[in-house]
Amino acid sequence: MTQLLNRRILLIDDMPSIHEDFRKILADRPAASALDDAEAVLFDEHATVFSQGFELDSAFQGREGVAKVKASIEAEQPYAMAFVDMRMPPGWDGVETIERLWRVDPQMQIVICTAYADHPWEEVLARLEVADRLLILKKPFDMIEVSQLARTLTAKWALARQSAAQVDSLEATVLDLKTTEAALRQSNRELEAFSYSIAHDLRSPLNSIDGFSHLLQKAVGGDAAERSRHYLSRIREGVRQMGELTDGLLSLAQVSRAPLKIETVDLAALAERARHDCQKRDTARHVTMHVEPDLTAVGDPLLLRQVMDNLIANAWKFTAHAATPEIWVGKLQPADESTVYFVRDNGVGFDMNYADKLFGTFQRLHAPGEYAGLGIGLAVSQRIIARHAGRIWAEGAVGQGATFFFTIPSPSRQGPPGAGHSEAPHPRSAS
Ligand SMILES: Nc1ncnc2c1ncn2[C@@H]1O[C@H](COP(=O)(O)OP(=O)(O)OP(=O)(O)O)[C@@H](O)[C@H]1O
Ligand SMILES: [Mg+2]
Repeated sequence: MTQLLNRRILLIDDMPSIHEDFRKILADRPAASALDDAEAVLFDEHATVFSQGFELDSAFQGREGVAKVKASIEAEQPYAMAFVDMRMPPGWDGVETIERLWRVDPQMQIVICTAYADHPWEEVLARLEVADRLLILKKPFDMIEVSQLARTLTAKWALARQSAAQVDSLEATVLDLKTTEAALRQSNRELEAFSYSIAHDLRSPLNSIDGFSHLLQKAVGGDAAERSRHYLSRIREGVRQMGELTDGLLSLAQVSRAPLKIETVDLAALAERARHDCQKRDTARHVTMHVEPDLTAVGDPLLLRQVMDNLIANAWKFTAHAATPEIWVGKLQPADESTVYFVRDNGVGFDMNYADKLFGTFQRLHAPGEYAGLGIGLAVSQRIIARHAGRIWAEGAVGQGATFFFTIPSPSRQGPPGAGHSEAPHPRSAS
């Protein structure tokens, strides 16, 4: 990491005596004591100015200087600045050296030192194309000039690094904000769709409550006891529907509320238990179920139980008209590390064009008169799987059964599951 406080200075000059002079002015010496200060004042010396603790490095030719700058960048210890002599025979002159220095380290502050210009200054500046990192120091120079240039330009280097770091961090913050904004927009869209669907689905039972209460009002008082009983039963039916819808919404909301409790869950046992519950509710039917043994996942036991309950209840329900209803529960042989579980049936199936709609709140592809239900089970299941960072999807065809696939990545590899829709082999072979 680049240090913000950087006292490293490179002097590129072909005259060894100049290096000696610079070393005297800038070299690392202990900070001046109060006594030194007093002495300096008495003897009119620049003691405090000279004790800056700079780290001075020497190069005697442009090529050597560029090599040192390269090495400093590789070692992540860049020079804050360089003093560069204009004439350095037999090698590159100052202008060429500076051009090459900036190719290696564009951040470097540079002072060009010269007694005379070989090129007119306008030409030099135009060639170097950088007006804000180059100063000119004319020989013969005073010690205070060198020392003050070193102080100011190393501080300028640090300020430039600091503001670059601030810009980077601002950019990262802006990126974060954009990501959050996109997520908020998406969740707003979902909420809008959700509210629409609630408003739409609660409307009809509300209408019936309203309409039949109104009729009841009119009927009461006459001898219309029979009709009143009928209206009352319609009202109660509307209230029942509303109760179910409200319960559905509550169960959906609850999925996101409780913290996840992660443990190894026996999905095979959950499937058997779900089937047992279906059988208790629907004693007249016989459905054969094949469950792969050793079917486990790591997740929240209560939430995964809800997923299994929903999927098995659907398979049970939508095989109502099958001649020999069957359900398969198992897992695909993973092509990668994420296991794909499935629940398959040989029931009524569905039109693949609407495959994504199945998971929407209160979305149903089959008429309520034919197959009872609210359309909440798959929405709840999808939310549960999403909380486990997994994915759920469906495949089916009208009259040819349906398969519901889901993944539950292990807690250590949270992220989108690798198994894609199209790569999933047909589960029949795995059962
Ligand atoms: N195994 C399946 N075979 C065919 N279609 C299915 C199957 N499972 C779900 N579907 C279709 O997806 C719709 C949504 O399923 P979901 O479980 O969310 O609702 P539901 O079963 O109708 O009602 P609920 O689960 O709230 O009692 C179903 O109405 C049905 O059209
Ligand atoms: Mg259902």
